[in-house]
Amino acid sequence: MKQLVINGNKELKGEIKISGAKNSIVALIPAAILSDDKVSLYNVPNISDTKALLDILDLLNCEYKYDNEALEINTKKIKNKVIEEELSKKLRASYYFMGALLAKFKQVEIYFPGGCNIGSRPIDFHIKGFEKLGAEVTIDGNKYTFKAKKLKGANIYLDFASVGATINIMLAAVKAEGKTTISNAAKEPEIVNVATLLNSMGAKISGAGTSEIKIEGVNHLSAGVIDVIPDRIEAGTYIIAGALVGNKLRISGIIEEHVEALLSKLKEMGVKLECTGDSIVISKSKRYKPINIKTLVFPGFVTDLGQPVSVLLTQADGMSIFEETIFENRMGHVKYLQKMGANIRVNDRTAIIIGPAHLKGKEVVATDLRAGAAMVLAGLVAKGTTTINNIEHILRGYENIVEKLQNVGADIKIVEVE
Ligand code: UD1
Repeated sequence: MKQLVINGNKELKGEIKISGAKNSIVALIPAAILSDDKVSLYNVPNISDTKALLDILDLLNCEYKYDNEALEINTKKIKNKVIEEELSKKLRASYYFMGALLAKFKQVEIYFPGGCNIGSRPIDFHIKGFEKLGAEVTIDGNKYTFKAKKLKGANIYLDFASVGATINIMLAAVKAEGKTTISNAAKEPEIVNVATLLNSMGAKISGAGTSEIKIEGVNHLSAGVIDVIPDRIEAGTYIIAGALVGNKLRISGIIEEHVEALLSKLKEMGVKLECTGDSIVISKSKRYKPINIKTLVFPGFVTDLGQPVSVLLTQADGMSIFEETIFENRMGHVKYLQKMGANIRVNDRTAIIIGPAHLKGKEVVATDLRAGAAMVLAGLVAKGTTTINNIEHILRGYENIVEKLQNVGADIKIVEVE
């Protein structure tokens, strides 16, 4: 078993370069299998979620070469196979093979996806979308079978602007006959990244990044190429680290508009930020104003940064409120922040945080990916040693987190325990 051990309260100085976005690459790999040729992906993050999807490509007999952040996928020998539970449950995004295999082979057999336990996370919008496109769905326990004689474009309205459903329906519709419109589509940058790859392969998608996406089906998709966008959640996590313990900490390789909501809330607190092109330089201030944060769909404050930012709110002078509106269970980190000395009260999906708290290092648990990121941030600012368990959650989404933090002066390491 691996643990992360942090000796906290060390100043962070230097530069952290942001990797490719987890939530993009996990959709770009399934999107690539729609090609009948080679697809090249650059800036691919080396995280365990990427590896889990490459295992699915292995199962499907799909060839690929992954070297130094470049991934080349060649679909010539791909075969349709049942994606067993052992593979599907490794991550949430295995469900993108539903849309991709349905479009490619008109049949998919796959098990319910895994991912962070942050709420019930149903996939009913995905299923309704596939049905509208002409697929028949059979559910047997955790096993989902989708079959279609042919897929036909349709008008699909999403009850909620779901990222997963928007991408999955887009994947299923690119080769459907005729026009598909997704209304109330999600607008997250990762959706634009996927649509850009598909269009480079010959798809006809317009409106990605707005709430109405139009897809004109095509018969064939050929070679494609894409740069994975920078990970805005990883960037946000390190920006928050800068506000906690930074001394001119530079976060580079970002797209500023993707982290706009976070920056605007940090400025409201009084965080010193210097934005220059694709970099942001952050230094810790002595005092922060308390603020209220409510998570929303893009371009609102992203739900994945709610837990990390709540660590910063423990350092503000007075009462802050953090309200989570997307998932039911984003408060797994609170119990451990309390153990470290934070003054937090949770009422359903709202946390009332009273600062400033002098956090002390303790043994804690990463209950999910972003709760784990929150524990790392708490460990960086706390006095003494923080030991984090269940770190496989963190390694799913943060490339080289230990090396990146060590390089800027953090005392952090992974230890192997019985
Ligand atoms: C994706 C991201 C996740 C991020 C989230 C919101 C990936 C792999 N994960 O998750 O990091 O926090 O977007 O930005 O990209 N819902 C339904 N039925 C459905 C689908 C969704 O009720 O069929 C609900 C969910 O339970 C949730 C809300 O819609 O309450 C939003 O979920 P969604 O945007 O789909 O999140 P994910 O794609 O799972």
